[in-house]
Amino acid sequence: MGDIVRRIGLSLGADICWPLCFEALMRELDLRIPDEKSGDVIRFEVERVFIEPFDLRQGCKYDVVVDRLTHWYHTSREWIKKAILMDGLYVFNNPWSVQANEKHTTYCAMMALGMPIPDTWMVPPKSYEPTPDLKPTLSRYAKLFDVKRIGDRIGWPMFMKPYDGGGWRGVTKVDDAAAVYKAYEESGKSVMHLQSGVKDWDRFVRCIGFGPQTHCVLYDPNAPLHDRYTMKRDFLTKKEEEHLRKVTLTINAFFGWEFNSCEALHANGVWHPIDFANPCPDSQVTSLHFHFPWMVKSYVRWATFCAATKKPMRKNQDWAPFYAVAAQKELSYEEKLDRYAAIADERFETARFEEFCAKHLAHLDEVTWNFFATPTARDAIQQKVAALFPAHEVEQFTELFWSRIQEWRRGAGTGTGTGTGTESADKKGAS
Ligand SMILES: Nc1ncnc2c1ncn2[C@@H]1O[C@H](COP(=O)(O)OP(=O)(O)O)[C@@H](O)[C@H]1O
Ligand SMILES: [Mg+2]
Repeated sequence: MGDIVRRIGLSLGADICWPLCFEALMRELDLRIPDEKSGDVIRFEVERVFIEPFDLRQGCKYDVVVDRLTHWYHTSREWIKKAILMDGLYVFNNPWSVQANEKHTTYCAMMALGMPIPDTWMVPPKSYEPTPDLKPTLSRYAKLFDVKRIGDRIGWPMFMKPYDGGGWRGVTKVDDAAAVYKAYEESGKSVMHLQSGVKDWDRFVRCIGFGPQTHCVLYDPNAPLHDRYTMKRDFLTKKEEEHLRKVTLTINAFFGWEFNSCEALHANGVWHPIDFANPCPDSQVTSLHFHFPWMVKSYVRWATFCAATKKPMRKNQDWAPFYAVAAQKELSYEEKLDRYAAIADERFETARFEEFCAKHLAHLDEVTWNFFATPTARDAIQQKVAALFPAHEVEQFTELFWSRIQEWRRGAGTGTGTGTGTESADKKGAS
C-alpha cells in the first residue's frame, strides 16, 4: 500500500480571500483518506493554475480544477475543456454549460419544468453594430413594436435587464411608459428582457448550492454591498428551506452547475425564482462575511470529495429525465420538485457525499472554527478588503468583517459537529 496524490488546481481571477483560507485549511487538515478500492492512502495537493501556452496533446496533472475564471477568460476555458476531454479532469462548473446557457435559457428551461418564473419577454436591441447584412435583414424581417405595450400586457412595474445578466449590470425598474422608453433607449446594443416585477414580496432569499450542499441567506437588495447578505436567522420554515433546496439543486443538476446561487422572491405564498444563472457565485468575504466560513468549508468538502472519489465528469447535459417528470400531468409542482431533486441527489451523489464527510471530514467544523481565530485568517480578509476599499477604510472594514466572523464562531460553539456537509449540519454554524 502506498500514497496516492490527488491534485486540486485553483483556476482563479480576482479571488484573494477564499483561496488563502482554502489552502490554509487543507494544510491544517492534512487529509489522509484510504482509497475505497486499493486501500492506498490518498493525500491532496493544492496548487494555483497558471496561464501559459499549451500543447493540445500535453497531459493535465490535476484531478480536480476549481474554476473561477473561465466564464470570461477563454484561454483557460479551452484548456479546461481539453483536459476534460483528453485527461479525465473533473471541473466545477461544466464549462460548456457555462458557455452556452444564458439567463434567458435558464428561465425557459425552468418554466418548462413548471417553476413560477415571472412573465418575461425578450426584445430585439435598440441599436446595432453596422454590418453589411443589417439593413436588408431588419428592413425585411424586423417588426415595429412598442415596449410600453409589453408593460400593459404583463403589468407594471417591470424590470428591464440583459438576457445574459449578472452583477446588476444594466438592470432598471420601470414603472411606466416614460421609464421604459428611457431604459430601452439607454440599453443600446444589449439584448434585453422585460420581466414582470414580483409585487409585495416579503422575503428575498439567495440559496447557494455547492454540490449537494445548500445554504439560504436572507438578502437585502437595497442595502450597501457589504450588508446585502444579512445575518438574519429563522426567516424560513423547515418546509420553505427544503423547497428552496430542491429548487436550487434542480437548477444546478439540470445545467451541470454544481456551484451556483438561486435568487428567489416570496410573494403571496409562492417562491418565484428570478435569477439563477450565477455559475460563479460571489465567494468573497467582503460580501459574505458571516457566511464566509460556510463557503470555505463547502469548497473543501466538495473539492476533496470529487478528487478522492475521482468523480467522473458529466460531459453532456442529460435533460431527458427532467422532462420526463415535467410531462407527468398528474403531478403537482411540489411532487415534481421532489422528483427533480431526486435526480439531482443522484447526480451529486448526495448519500455518498454525506458518508464521505462524516467519515473523513468530521473534524472540519472544529478545524475551521479554530482557523477563523488565527492571524492567517485575519490577514486573508485584510488582503481582500485592501484590494477593494480605499486605504483609509481598510482597517475599519477588515474589523467589521472579522467581527461578523467572530459572531459566527460564537454561534458555532466549539464547532465539534458531525459536519456532514449539508445545510442542517451547517445550521449549527449559523444559528
Ligand atoms: N422580476 C423581478 N421582480 C422584483 N425584483 C426584481 C425582478 N428582477 C430583478 N429584480 C431586482 O433587480 C435585481 C437584479 O436583477 P437580477 O435578475 O438578479 O440581475 P443580475 O443577474 O444582474 O443579478 C434583483 O436582485 C432584484 O432586486
Ligand atoms: Mg441577481
